[in-house]
Amino acid sequence: MIKISPSILSCDYSKMGEEFKKMKHCGADWLHIDVMDGHFVPNITLGAPIVKCMRKHSDLVFDVHLMISNPLKYIPDFIRAGADVICFHVESDSPVEETIELIRSSGKIAALAVKPGTPVEKVFPYLDRLGMVLIMTVEPGFGGQSFMADMMPKITALRRECERRGLDMDIQVDGGISPETVETAAKAGANVLVAGSAIFGSDDPKETITLLRSKAAKYF
Ligand code: DX5
Ligand code: ZN
Repeated sequence: MIKISPSILSCDYSKMGEEFKKMKHCGADWLHIDVMDGHFVPNITLGAPIVKCMRKHSDLVFDVHLMISNPLKYIPDFIRAGADVICFHVESDSPVEETIELIRSSGKIAALAVKPGTPVEKVFPYLDRLGMVLIMTVEPGFGGQSFMADMMPKITALRRECERRGLDMDIQVDGGISPETVETAAKAGANVLVAGSAIFGSDDPKETITLLRSKAAKYF
């Protein structure tokens, strides 16, 4: 099943409520919330108190992408704030198994992300306990970068491994997804599509979301 998760990194944060309602009206399934700490990545965005405020303005699934060095320490705050899917990086400093268990024991969906330079096999030991894996198709830190098509073999290998184990895994792609690149990602096996600049920069976000979904759906 295809899910479209607009990255609110590209939204106008001064009118979040309106932006979120617009995304729901335009057919978004999830909202992708990028959390950056200025340490794991060279940029700073927002923390759990802001997510708590956001929660008042949307009933969409909050897909929280933690680009922070110590996710284990902050995940309880994000859970209390209303996160639904919690994705942290396998390259972070937190113990992976313990962090996954913390998310799962709170009844939330645990997801692991890999940066472009990290082999996808790093997540294989944890697949049975994950609801989603995020394959980054840009270096994390900023919106508006170019899609890295050379990440597709990682998606294909992951999809194959999940099928071999009989796991119904969501595979998310994040970075440079647009109507021009979405088919490449979906064909490789990605079914959860994050797009920031392509959606918020569009004159007609509803049309863009519909197009992303229909182009990806050809492969599922
Ligand atoms: C980058 C973030 C992305 C970003 C994607 O570090 O994880 O979610 O917002 O932006 P676009 O779709 O513009 O590449
Ligand atoms: Zn992201």
